[in-house]
Amino acid sequence: MSRRPMIAGNWKLNLTVEEAVSLAGEIASGLMRDDLDVLVIPGFLALEPVALSLSSSPVLVGGQNLFWQEQGAYTGEVSGPQLKAAGARYVLVGHSERRQYFGETEKTCRLRLEAALKAGLRPILCVGETRDERESGQTEGVVESQLAGALAGLSAGEMAEVTIAYEPVWAIGTGLTASEEQANQAHAYIRGWIGSRFDKLVANSTGILYGGSVKSANAAGLLHQPEVDGALVGGASLSAESFLGIIQAA
Ligand code: 13P
Repeated sequence: MSRRPMIAGNWKLNLTVEEAVSLAGEIASGLMRDDLDVLVIPGFLALEPVALSLSSSPVLVGGQNLFWQEQGAYTGEVSGPQLKAAGARYVLVGHSERRQYFGETEKTCRLRLEAALKAGLRPILCVGETRDERESGQTEGVVESQLAGALAGLSAGEMAEVTIAYEPVWAIGTGLTASEEQANQAHAYIRGWIGSRFDKLVANSTGILYGGSVKSANAAGLLHQPEVDGALVGGASLSAESFLGIIQAA
C-alpha cells in the first residue's frame, strides 16, 4: 500500500506571531510539490494567524500539544476543540521534550491522544529512546511501551487517524542523526508492532515519520528508506530555504 509522505516542521518555542506568519508565507510560496503533505506546527499564539494566512494554500497546520479536558478551570491549558477551531488539523502528542521537561507519561499521552481524536484532530504520537536506552539495547522495549501505553484501547478505525513519529532523543537538536539503517529498522519494528496489535492493513497504512536532526543534506537518504514515510523537522524547519530543501529531497 502506498502511503502519502509528510514533511512536518515543529517550530517548538520559536518565532513571534509576525515571524511565524512570514515563515509560513515563504514556505507556501516556495512549495513546488503536491505529491506529499506539508505541515507546520507553530506555537499556540501563532496557530490561528498562521492557519488563516495559509487558508488558500495546501500547507496544513498542527498544534504542539493539547490538554485532555475540553474546557473548564485548567489555567494555562489549550484544548482539542480550541485547536480545531483555530485551524489545526493535526496535533503532536508525547514529544520527547514534553516527556523530559513537563512530566508527560504514557497515561497522559493516552488521554491526550483520545482527546485529539474526539476533537477531530489527527494525533502524531512521538516515540523514541534516549542514548543510554539505545546503548543498553532497550530501544525496542522503550518504543514498545510508549506505543502500548498511548494506544491502549484504541480501535483499528481510530488508529487509522494516527501518525507515528520516531524521534530518537539522542538525535534531537544534537546534530546526530540516526543512520538510514537505524531509522529504517526502528520504523520496521514500529510497523510490525502495529501489525500485531491491530492488523496488517492498519500497519501498512500508518504513516511513520522520522525526526532528529533532519536537514536538507541528509533528508534524501533517510526519506528514501522503505519504512520512512516522512520527517518531523525541528531546527531546520525554522528557515524556509532549509525546510523547502528537505521537501524537495523527499
Ligand atoms: P531537530 O530537527 O531540531 O533535531 O528536532 C527534531 C524534533 O524534535 C522535531 O519534533
